[in-house]
Amino acid sequence: MNQHIIVTGASRGIGKAIAEYFVRKGEHVIGIARTEDALNQLALVLGERFTPYPGDLGTSSQASKVMSAILKENQVKGLILNSGLSIPGNYLDSKPTEWKRQIDTNYLAPAAMLQKMIAYLRKKKDGKIIAISSLAAVLPFPENAAYAASKAAFYHLIKTAAIESNDHGIAFGAVLPGLTDTKMTENMASILPKASPKSVSRAVWKCWQRPDLFSVVNRSNQLAEFLYRMNPPVFSRLVKMSKNVLPRFKEALD
Ligand SMILES: NC(=O)c1ccc[n+]([C@@H]2O[C@H](COP(=O)([O-])OP(=O)(O)OC[C@H]3O[C@@H](n4cnc5c(N)ncnc54)[C@H](OP(=O)(O)O)[C@@H]3O)[C@@H](O)[C@H]2O)c1
Repeated sequence: MNQHIIVTGASRGIGKAIAEYFVRKGEHVIGIARTEDALNQLALVLGERFTPYPGDLGTSSQASKVMSAILKENQVKGLILNSGLSIPGNYLDSKPTEWKRQIDTNYLAPAAMLQKMIAYLRKKKDGKIIAISSLAAVLPFPENAAYAASKAAFYHLIKTAAIESNDHGIAFGAVLPGLTDTKMTENMASILPKASPKSVSRAVWKCWQRPDLFSVVNRSNQLAEFLYRMNPPVFSRLVKMSKNVLPRFKEALD
């Protein structure tokens, strides 16, 4: 029986790129997302190594149900927790309903899936789990506070869960992309070039080969991370400049 890797949020963006990359490397992927059409389109391209699995991972109970059903019907050797939601905007104007949706999607739902997967893999004494976190989990980026908090919460959770379970044959990894060119960031300006989803999928594949709990993706991310650690005020000024000056510059050009 084929050993599958579950990829959440496989209908577009980074998750789609991960599914494509892993299937091309010979893996069998089960891709979950709500947009059934997009998953079916991907299945047409990727063939029988890709299994579309329509499902809503917007709350812990929904995610838990989807996960139980998949684990009942399939042999699974790994999980890539990628699905996510960002509702950008100034914190002062943001609403508790928006904080809750982001915490539900980015923290509570993957937490429920992580727990199910750890229990399942502990019995097999083998398997890998990778989280697609974000540079925003470790560096402050304005206009995305609740998102960053939800990503930081899950990143901390998986690092802690890893200590409890990595001597049970389970390897844990996390990839922390910076700004990447997907639907999530289509309205976000950046002074540094956005990474491509494919470049993130390559980093995820590397992480899959050698799981590592702190894997930033490209040079821009490494530079941002280094700058923040060396001089947080300069880093904040640059990020603010990128957010405030760039849109005005673009407006002037249009
Ligand atoms: N883009 C960036 O700059 C960036 C940077 C750092 C980290 N990340 C992280 O990378 C991951 C992927 O982001 P992306 O940029 O590829 O975003 P995206 O293009 O908006 O894709 C998000 C994916 O998550 C799925 N998803 C969202 N809510 C869901 C739900 N309730 N149930 C099931 N699936 C759901 C979406 O599928 P459906 O809508 O079809 O359900 C879609 O496949 C996220 O965890 C994000 O936080 C992104």
